[in-house]
Amino acid sequence: MCGIVGYVGNSSRRADAGHSALDVVLEGLRRLEYRGYDSAGVAVVADGTIAARKKSGKLTNLLAELESDPLPTSLTGIGHTRWATHGGPTDQNAHPHLADGGRLAMIHNGIIENFAELKQELLEKGVTFTSETDTEVAAALLGDIFRNQLNGESSNLTKAMQLACQRLEGAFTLLAVHADQPDVVVAARRNSPLVVGLGEGENFLGSDVSGFIDHTRRAVELGQDQIVTITADSVEITDFFGAPAQGKEYHVDWDPASAEKGGFSSFMEKEIHDQPDAVAQTLLGRSDLNGQLTLSELRIDPELLKKVDKIIVLACGTAAYAGLVAKYAIENWCRIPTEVELAHEFRYRDPIVDAKTLVVSISQSGETMDTLMAVRYAREQGAKTISICNTNGSTIPRESDAVLYTHAGPEIAVASTKAFLAQITAAYLLGLYLAQLRGNIFSGQIKDVLADLGKVPAKIQEILDGAGPLRELARSMKDEKSVLFLGRHVGFPVALEGALKLKEIAYIHAEGFAAGELKHGPIALIDEGQPVFVVVPSPRGRDSLHAKVVSNIQEIRARGARTLVIAEEGDETVRAYAEHVFYVPQTPTLLMPLLTTVPLQIFAAELAKAKGYDVDQPRNLAKSVTVE
Ligand code: F6R
Repeated sequence: MCGIVGYVGNSSRRADAGHSALDVVLEGLRRLEYRGYDSAGVAVVADGTIAARKKSGKLTNLLAELESDPLPTSLTGIGHTRWATHGGPTDQNAHPHLADGGRLAMIHNGIIENFAELKQELLEKGVTFTSETDTEVAAALLGDIFRNQLNGESSNLTKAMQLACQRLEGAFTLLAVHADQPDVVVAARRNSPLVVGLGEGENFLGSDVSGFIDHTRRAVELGQDQIVTITADSVEITDFFGAPAQGKEYHVDWDPASAEKGGFSSFMEKEIHDQPDAVAQTLLGRSDLNGQLTLSELRIDPELLKKVDKIIVLACGTAAYAGLVAKYAIENWCRIPTEVELAHEFRYRDPIVDAKTLVVSISQSGETMDTLMAVRYAREQGAKTISICNTNGSTIPRESDAVLYTHAGPEIAVASTKAFLAQITAAYLLGLYLAQLRGNIFSGQIKDVLADLGKVPAKIQEILDGAGPLRELARSMKDEKSVLFLGRHVGFPVALEGALKLKEIAYIHAEGFAAGELKHGPIALIDEGQPVFVVVPSPRGRDSLHAKVVSNIQEIRARGARTLVIAEEGDETVRAYAEHVFYVPQTPTLLMPLLTTVPLQIFAAELAKAKGYDVDQPRNLAKSVTVE
């Protein structure tokens, strides 16, 4: 959701180019803009006052504003890029919000759930508000405590933050600066991301490490309900009641260049091309020389895993489609009943969960609030929880019993691509591991599947290299109003994902259906010229599955559909009924989504580009959805 940066440097830093608070904060915001881009703003402490600028729209609007109305040089600053929750994306609602007569500035990610009640209280004290945001209420509360309640300790912003946080409900990361304490940024976090970056004579805060990756690789992970006070030379952590607390330092091994576009027209294109590597990295180091799984990071007692009698996969959006693929594989290999549920539906339906239930959450960001809340609920009910996640140190893995990281690297484009393939890969590894542990399949079979998985990166590369005709088709279809996607078995989640990619970045109506469901209703949508992608299973696969899908193609073709077919190399039967066939290399049926998804991602990205849209930052969306 929102991106947050904080910085304090000492005077020796002033001489170094790029180390003014404004430079550091703007650089961080540029890297964090994927988290939200409804508005952006900065505040610096200079000459005993707070100076702030904010602007609705993307960061470029703020940069233009700063050019026409520059900020004074400073070594203390905060910055924010917003994804709107309370109040529309206007200049007024943009962060920072000022309080205490303009001497305090605050930025915020998350939602203050009791803001209405607090606002009423502050209004009665005579405080006035200029925005519709919950953030301004939190800022006013902090300002009121700082100014009126600290009797003699009025320059203690940390203490004021502790008292304020004791009153706040909801999920939040808050950063504040005050003109009375010019060399300090104070931050608080509850259920919302915040990382500290440690420098030499300077320290940083960021929603994630991209906020300061250009300056330091030393990061500190904070716990829940903690407050951190940074100066240029110190980092102090407490809980909300002032008790000293510890953070965990770690080294960030993401290369800043890996977060750049690498010559592609968009991050999404780059990330589609990163996929051979994302899959390979996720497989790396997870099996031994005998071809057996060694998931040592799964620190759950193997005896408990052997007793699991049900698996529930929890996730949202694309990650949930990875979960659907996982269901086919896990049930096939482990024979454990596996349900897949949208995380936001889960805890509201009184689900049946107990100590023999294994809950597997899937999340790229590790911060999706719907998924986090569902995981928490499952844990409370006694389930064991494993997180499949791409973001080291994020909240969902930290709150799970164990984590299996996907190693896709930073995913910047809002529409998920490489994280999806990495999630499916990790889910396969988990399924194989459980099957190995429980003796469901022979070790030779595990070795075979791992060998097939090992060949996938090169096959993805083949698809990428041969995508010319598909790109041409996408460009020719830029004025389509609706595209349908059909799939069966593991092709069904691929169809859903193909449709989601197209709607979210090209704003074209798109629906994914299970091919067998066609005749139960959706076939009524087919008329002359309706484009339909069909993901065809391997003819070498199960029984009559291939034949059934080929019949479905014939049915829609007979009704005038334009049939755009994704099939396995060597499948000649589909040619007769397809306007276009895009072949993917052969691989076992269960692994096919790692290949068949790729043409659909390329199609969506190319078509959105042809329409002139911002492929990386589609309208109304945010990369990380940290509200329910
Ligand atoms: C779609 C997309 C979203 C995310 C969903 C979950 O391209 O990216 O549907 O998959 O919001 O996000 P994570 O995986 O971060 O929990």
